[in-house]
Amino acid sequence: MESLADIWEDGKPVGVFGGQWGDEGKGRLVDFLTAQAEFVIRFNGGANAGHTIIVGDKKEVTHLLPSGIIRRGTKNVVGPGVLCTLAVLRHEATAIADLCGAEVLLDRSAPVVHAIHRWFDAAREAGGQGIGTTKRGIGPACEDIASRRGSVRLGDLTDVDRVREILTRNNYYNERRCAAEAFCGRAGLEPFPTLEEVIADIMAYKGDVVPRLCDARAIIARAVKQRKKVLFEAAQAILLDPFAGTAPHTTSSLCTRAGVGATFGIYDFGAVIGVAKAYATRVGDGPFPTELEDATGDRLRELGHEYGSTTGRPRRCGWLDLVALRYAARMGGLTHLAITKLDTLAAFDEVKVCTGYTFNGRPVEAEETLTSKVMRDSVQSYLRLPGWGRHAERLPNCRRLADLPEDVRTYLERIETETGCPVIAAGVGPEREQLAI
Ligand code: GDP
Ligand code: IMO
Ligand code: MG
Repeated sequence: MESLADIWEDGKPVGVFGGQWGDEGKGRLVDFLTAQAEFVIRFNGGANAGHTIIVGDKKEVTHLLPSGIIRRGTKNVVGPGVLCTLAVLRHEATAIADLCGAEVLLDRSAPVVHAIHRWFDAAREAGGQGIGTTKRGIGPACEDIASRRGSVRLGDLTDVDRVREILTRNNYYNERRCAAEAFCGRAGLEPFPTLEEVIADIMAYKGDVVPRLCDARAIIARAVKQRKKVLFEAAQAILLDPFAGTAPHTTSSLCTRAGVGATFGIYDFGAVIGVAKAYATRVGDGPFPTELEDATGDRLRELGHEYGSTTGRPRRCGWLDLVALRYAARMGGLTHLAITKLDTLAAFDEVKVCTGYTFNGRPVEAEETLTSKVMRDSVQSYLRLPGWGRHAERLPNCRRLADLPEDVRTYLERIETETGCPVIAAGVGPEREQLAI
């Protein structure tokens, strides 16, 4: 497969994954590919994600449902590993998908993020004591999956007695309420919800959830067998993965193709596309070796409108880190890259890319693990490359990789050389069609 235009030529599923620390532009690439895809599937994360799609003067941000919900006729699947905040699910299913004429299918075993999860996430973050989560309850919801208690699944909404049983079995509710007392006195905390409030807040969404329930694994297994065009959309990113990422400053669900394998049993892909910005950003705490805590970083933030799509927080900004991207490509099993926001970088006369780390006086090798310690304590070396500002007017109209200005192509070739992944798409503006392929 040589081009994004024939990405499904061998009839195998395609996946789009975050190659950095999130917000790379996964949503816009998924939206582009959805013109061809029959099924668009979210397999990880939850309402901590925010995927922006811009069509004309209209902007949509999807948090929980796949970015296919803005195209008529697409089948949008929420997989067994997606952490479902029911208020967000209702909003996106009714106010976006229904209006756009897109179908929404929810796996019966997808876990619910309930009020107790949100309360603990907020409590741990209160007073700046956490890691800078989105406070959407993701960590606590994943804890309950792993500890096999207190985790209500979408299919349980058919039976209120079952929901109550899950929340009280093994003393779950009482134990959580006692644990909550340790946080008493932290500023701005809501009262801990009563058991009846937790149950009522789940059951309020029964009418939205139950009619859309399905066995997503079976539906997708059949679709794959029939060689239908199946597209997996990741939330978050490889460097935020709880295993591959910069622990403990990560999210809590699997962010690589391993997450698709774990939840759908699908291991064979036609293409595994990592999306990366032409520079780098990060929201929340954690190591960020190429961060620019100066006027250049501020300029990148303003030019790139780098404010979180979910929380509105200013994103930390820095130069492209090819050592980190090479590591992400390896850990994520990426076969291709899509590089976004080349138009934003056009404002700079000269651009820098990080091509090496030195840790304890020796160069970090390609096979080494980029632990948080390595990221934090190493010294970065940079390559300076000419900017492409003189082509700033023409760039947003390029639709083919071959038509990109030479300096941009040199930049992309450097990315290919350092990561070993061919660049298959280049973002030249935020609009749906502003993609060179
Ligand atoms: P996601 O979470 O990976 O889907 O990314 P977000 O939607 O959170 O953030 C990406 C931001 O970059 C959004 O505001 C997009 O509209 C914007 N964006 C994506 N690709 C491009 C591009 O090529 N050029 C410009 N200027 N903006 C882009
Ligand atoms: P998309 O899909 C950027 C970050 C948070 C925090 C850490 C843990 O839009 O790329 P969590 O709420 O998951 O427990 O927070 O992960 N984070 C993201 N950063 N984009 C995202 O999603 C993110 N989802 C979580 O800022 O640092
Ligand atoms: Mg985002």
